[in-house]
Amino acid sequence: MQLRDLLKELEASGDLVRIKKEVDVKFEMANVINSLGEKPVIFENVKGHTMPVFAGIASSRDIIARGLGTTKEDMLVKLVEALGTPKEPELLENPPCQEVVIHDPDLNTLPFLTHLDGDGGPYATATVSIIKDKETGRNACYHRLMRLDSKRATARLIPKRQTRTTYDRTKNDIEMAICIGNSTSVMIAASLGPPSGVDELAIANALSPTPLAKCITLDLEVPAHSEIVIEGRLTRDLDREGPFVDLTETRDFERQEPVFVVDCITTRNEAMYQALIPGRLEHKLLMGMPKEPTIYEEVSKVVTCTNVVVTMGGGSWLHSVVQIEKENPDDGIRAIQAAFKGHKSMKQVTIFDSDVDIYDPISMEWALATRFQATSDMLILPKQPGSSLDPSSDHSGKKTLTSKLGLDATKPTDVDPKKYEKVSYGNIDINDYLEK
Ligand SMILES: Cc1cc2nc3c(=O)[nH]c(=O)nc-3n(C[C@H](O)[C@H](O)[C@H](O)COP(=O)(O)O)c2cc1C
Repeated sequence: MQLRDLLKELEASGDLVRIKKEVDVKFEMANVINSLGEKPVIFENVKGHTMPVFAGIASSRDIIARGLGTTKEDMLVKLVEALGTPKEPELLENPPCQEVVIHDPDLNTLPFLTHLDGDGGPYATATVSIIKDKETGRNACYHRLMRLDSKRATARLIPKRQTRTTYDRTKNDIEMAICIGNSTSVMIAASLGPPSGVDELAIANALSPTPLAKCITLDLEVPAHSEIVIEGRLTRDLDREGPFVDLTETRDFERQEPVFVVDCITTRNEAMYQALIPGRLEHKLLMGMPKEPTIYEEVSKVVTCTNVVVTMGGGSWLHSVVQIEKENPDDGIRAIQAAFKGHKSMKQVTIFDSDVDIYDPISMEWALATRFQATSDMLILPKQPGSSLDPSSDHSGKKTLTSKLGLDATKPTDVDPKKYEKVSYGNIDINDYLEK
């Protein structure tokens, strides 16, 4: 489903808020989005800007599922299928994203948000960035942009992401197109980290039709229905980027990062800018959820895996829970080892049987209380490569190091399974017992 269709559908079902009051992109807008619990919203009157701003279309699993034309329960299978069978998108002539072409662009005309006091500057965060690598082809990845002036912004390129790899092995500038205001399929695909050489836009197209458009000034293709496309170059110049809040809701520090220079901006008619506040629901879901299929695939190689959730409490990045159909005594421990292969930044994983609801913290804690013994059901892996986002990791060396924890909360196979079953009371019609 395309973005504008989703917004229309959300409005028709009463799930979208319109704010007509004037709102400032400096501090105020991020606070309003947060206070709405990131419910989908359109700000019609943005102080100092002509463009409306929207946010919140990936703030819950249900809304993401609606954007992908599926349900929360079937989403994992849909993602696994799309990852396995990317579909080359078609090219559109006269695409919507080029209805307006600005050849002398000014980044100040776009409503970049300043989210919190202490941020390094105004940031664009819903920024799906497209590059091409000579060896591995097209790549889409999010790169937050901190505006420096009317033509320049620094882009955060995390090590080992394809854009950083390509940048580091290139001597010249790299063409980059930054797409803002995208469909759920494009947002999810850009959050995935498929093996190098797999085109995220072909995965987006496998999730739902995502035609592309050739850029005006670059040899790149972008989603044809993006609201805004910033065409430009990642230069060899470095400048300050950060501080900025990241996934763990702690502050990422200031670094020297590549400077992006804008050459041209294209937009749809009546284009809308997209905001995405860092560290909160939307950011967390978009980061964590795409790791669920990769964990699922690894665990499925060794045991029967029935579900995976990367949990919010772990910053939607560091912790996950995995549900399996246990058949052999060591299935739980094997699942732990496989899960860590499926998501390298993960620090803690817990394995549950299929009768435990892995969306319900109480159900999971019950299984840990009744099926888990620390002396026999726990795996600790010291000094493992860890996530730069975890303040408790050891950041003193070249590589971040952490210890990893796996908990096997599945019931043993060699005892009477009835001992571990949760009893349930019957459901009766209570009206039969109340005075009439
Ligand atoms: C909202 C959001 C913001 C992100 N910001 C950045 C960023 O600023 N820099 C970065 O390198 N990765 C960022 N990421 C992560 C990448 O999009 C993600 O890891 C991607 O899978 C990398 O895939 P690749 O290595 O194939 O490019 C962000 C992800 C999300 C969902």
